[in-house]
Amino acid sequence: MSARIAPFSRPAAREIAREAAGTASSALALRHRPRRNRKSEWARRLVREHVLTADDLIWPLFVIEGEGRHDPIRAMPGVERLGIDEIVRAAERAAALRIPALGLFPYTDPALRDARGSEALNAQNLVCRAVRAVKAAVPQIGIITDVALDPYTDHGHDGLVHEDGRILNDETVAVLVRQALVQAEAGADVIAPSDMMDGRVGAIREGLDAAGFHDVQIMAYSAKYASAFYGPFRDALGTKLSGDKRTYQMDPANDAEALREVAADLDEGADMVMVKPGLPYLDVIRRVKDAFEVPTFAYQVSGEYAMIQAAAQNGWIDGERAMLESLTAFKRAGADGVLTYFAPRVAEKLKEMWG
Ligand code: PBG
Repeated sequence: MSARIAPFSRPAAREIAREAAGTASSALALRHRPRRNRKSEWARRLVREHVLTADDLIWPLFVIEGEGRHDPIRAMPGVERLGIDEIVRAAERAAALRIPALGLFPYTDPALRDARGSEALNAQNLVCRAVRAVKAAVPQIGIITDVALDPYTDHGHDGLVHEDGRILNDETVAVLVRQALVQAEAGADVIAPSDMMDGRVGAIREGLDAAGFHDVQIMAYSAKYASAFYGPFRDALGTKLSGDKRTYQMDPANDAEALREVAADLDEGADMVMVKPGLPYLDVIRRVKDAFEVPTFAYQVSGEYAMIQAAAQNGWIDGERAMLESLTAFKRAGADGVLTYFAPRVAEKLKEMWG
């Protein structure tokens, strides 16, 4: 401010004011200025098309044997394997946050794993005991259990493996029906077959109905891809997979096939369908929703969670904003709800934001 500045002449001042007001002759003659609807928080809220709420969330939880256990999972910062008593506490927290449902996944003692996944059929297995405990303590929350053999097999596959290495379809389906019945007897509200065997939804529906479980819903992992994004989940369950799952999970290069898978599962009696993983497959969610207009869910899987958490921990992204933005993207794509490890955190955040 050392140089002396002459005061503006009146016409120059008027010119500057006009320019600031956007009325200068350089103003574009635009009828539409989309930015008008973004000019303030109230306006943005007023025109917002998709809103994420706690009602959209399903919280997947990992159960482990033992009391008071909180085992951190290396590749999933902020997620722990919990003992059954802690699962009950988590269910209470979820209910208080108005999260409608939980998904339960067991970390099975390696000594109980075998080639046939026999522990899946034990009515007193870990996940069944967890279901009973949550049902008794927090009856108002929905409980979803996974049907697939991978937490129980020593080879880590979702089905039975033939000696020549093939994953047996029909033989596996017979076991999955029994697994579903064991879970329904324990009190699961929703059976979620994640195994991708052909015909399993119809067989499970028939089995449930024959046993009188007409009200138990089926959420089918219909379009489940053979994905690299499940890595941290396998770590969480202690699964050592031999080979890969490409002969039963879908090829990531396909989307029309996803529609056929969904159509088949609906035809076989699925009440809800799912696309998995989530963010890399938003186009599939949109196609499924548009084509069938049925309750459609997405699974924001472990690897997606891990990527956001890792980048946030490094200070490379704002983790909280990335969490909200990624979950809102599912709503925009047409999902009715999302299975996400962020569920309690996002529900808390939404409460903080909207009360
Ligand atoms: C197993 C199952 C998997 C997931 C849910 N159920 C892993 C797999 O198919 O290998 C993945 C969930 C996640 O990565 O968060 N049937």
